Amino acid sequence: VDIDCDNNPIDDTIIDQMKTDPHQLILGIETSCDETAASIVEGGRHILSSVVASQIDIHAKFGGVVPEIASREHVNHMLPVIDRALRDANKALSELSGIAVTYGPGLVGALLVGVAAAKGLSHATGLPLIPVHHLEGHIASAYLADEALKPPFLCLIVSGGHATLAEVKDYAHFEVLARTRDDAPGEAFDKIARVIGLGYPGGPLIEKAAEGGRRDAFFLPITDFLDSFDFSFSGVKTAAINQYRKIEHEAQQEGKDWPSSVGLSDFAATFQETIVQTLASHTKRALKETNYRQLVIAGGVSANKRLREVMSEMTKEIGVRLTIPTLSFCTDNAAMIASAGYYAWQSGRRASLDLNAVPMAELDDVNRFVVG
Ligand code: KG4
Ligand code: ZN
Repeated sequence: VDIDCDNNPIDDTIIDQMKTDPHQLILGIETSCDETAASIVEGGRHILSSVVASQIDIHAKFGGVVPEIASREHVNHMLPVIDRALRDANKALSELSGIAVTYGPGLVGALLVGVAAAKGLSHATGLPLIPVHHLEGHIASAYLADEALKPPFLCLIVSGGHATLAEVKDYAHFEVLARTRDDAPGEAFDKIARVIGLGYPGGPLIEKAAEGGRRDAFFLPITDFLDSFDFSFSGVKTAAINQYRKIEHEAQQEGKDWPSSVGLSDFAATFQETIVQTLASHTKRALKETNYRQLVIAGGVSANKRLREVMSEMTKEIGVRLTIPTLSFCTDNAAMIASAGYYAWQSGRRASLDLNAVPMAELDDVNRFVVG
């Protein structure tokens, strides 16, 4: 299809309507990794529909996401998922006010499918195209769970690709305070689960295996930096793998799967506890130094029950209000993209039809889309 990118199709009446109508309906589209998702959200807060076609079963065979397979699956599912989101919400495209799409970060081939779908729909309908950063989406997932939540607040985003502490100064104004210098916590969960033979995705499987296990069955290091709140998880990951090799050896000598000294649940609980305590201690330091009275925890790893428990105790102790998204909106979905898109649009953000996928986009990259 030959699309004229200089000829922006957005109608001025739609722009005026967006700014005055608090019930605007936004279609959100998310394809940054292995979930094809579409959702309709009203006024940034009320979910009318949320459809997620997960590819987990396909990638599980390979122990992780295979980018080429992810792109092909997105192509197969994108239009039916959008169609279903509209039908579930009982809305027509003509009733929408905008189309929000994740343009980065993520797998380039996967992102491109969502971006192309959003551009095609924007071109065909004349609806505004709203570019959303994936992490901004995770932050917005908290608005869907907590009606009273308003910026400013501190947000910890923990997922398969990120460990980021962001200052949310306003709905569409973010400053990154800390990030991981190497691996993300979800990535560490996934890697360790693979090494000990649990499968993919590792986070929920390790959480389940950890039930009833000892949280201090062996020593694992916690990495801190004196001069920043940054995270690092590669040390704990390597230490856990080395520890597992020792355990494996001991088990072989005893002729069992796991030795008598450390069971699978002990191993999983100790590993999980180290990740959770690292996240809690960095976040506590950051809260104390910045004086935010509200914390949001988002991203796939925020589904972890032990993390929720420890963070809830920590915030209570220092008098900080805590919001964590509903379980099903912790992992990737499009309702969070529609919510973020609503606020992004209100802040003056929009993209033309030359919008491209940006696999390594930083959170403040969104500022370049603000017009007028
Ligand atoms: O946010 P998300 O769906 O995708 C990314 O943006 O990365 O997060 C997926 C990650 C995976 O690494 C998965 O293992 C982890 O979140 N995860 C969990 C739990 N549920 C998902 N990690 C720990 N505990 C969980 N319950
Ligand atoms: Zn995510």
